[in-house]
Amino acid sequence: MRHWADASPEPVRIGSRRHLQMFCEMLLQTHNPYKPAVIAWPALSPDALQHVKSLPIWDIAVQTEGRASIRVQTFADTVQEPLLRRALEMDGAEEARHKVVLSKLVQAYGIPLAPEPAYPPPADPEWGWLVTGYSECIDSFFAFGLFAAAKRSGFFPAELVETFEPVIQEEGRHILFFVNWAAWYRRQLPWWRRPWFALKVMRVWAFLIWERIGIARGIDSDGAAQDANFTMNGSASVGEALSPRALIELCLAENARRMAGYDARLLRPETVPRLARLASRLLA
Ligand SMILES: [Fe+2]
Ligand SMILES: [Fe+2]
Repeated sequence: MRHWADASPEPVRIGSRRHLQMFCEMLLQTHNPYKPAVIAWPALSPDALQHVKSLPIWDIAVQTEGRASIRVQTFADTVQEPLLRRALEMDGAEEARHKVVLSKLVQAYGIPLAPEPAYPPPADPEWGWLVTGYSECIDSFFAFGLFAAAKRSGFFPAELVETFEPVIQEEGRHILFFVNWAAWYRRQLPWWRRPWFALKVMRVWAFLIWERIGIARGIDSDGAAQDANFTMNGSASVGEALSPRALIELCLAENARRMAGYDARLLRPETVPRLARLASRLLA
């Protein structure tokens, strides 16, 4: 699941048919077939249980996975190319499985959840896919670092870290797949459609920034109160009060580590690490 390379050693042109085959095969061949229903959730000490229950992330996490799976699946349904479609269907199924894992976890530890909203399919399937892809690029980057901080501080007991590890690595595969899809897609568009696509990507980023400002203020896009300020205070919430700079450094290191095992000819997510490096320099 963590290591994958294409057998043929030739260089691959980004946007080519070979590139498409490569990022699809990467996703398909690194699939981990675990079954959420048989995960043995480790018994937690009263302290550890309190830690897990006190994290303000469970509602937003369950709902994010619910929205991601319908968005990815809806986009997959529009894709004709059989290999790409298979990879997208697997991606969507993994998101649905994340939601099941999370619901098993909250069940096992008696964490109450807010009632879930409906997850309607997006009116524009491509918009839904872009929103999910780029939001995973942001959220996974911070999740990598926060997860490592929680592991290091012992905030999560080692068994729980191990149990949850595949979900985090799966998000790493998803963003790797997504950025390669985006680069491939852009290049195979006729030139006159590229500016339109670039504009759409900019609108997606604007939407995601707006959405995250909403989350940070404790209000989600439907106006309901939500889990506030998690990433901002995140490392304190997982038992290790890192400085913002140290947290960013940890995220960068974890991001590099999680991406390291995949074929070097595939593109890596760059935008968020680049912004993070810039922020870290400004914080120096
Ligand atoms: Fe997910
Ligand atoms: Fe994902």
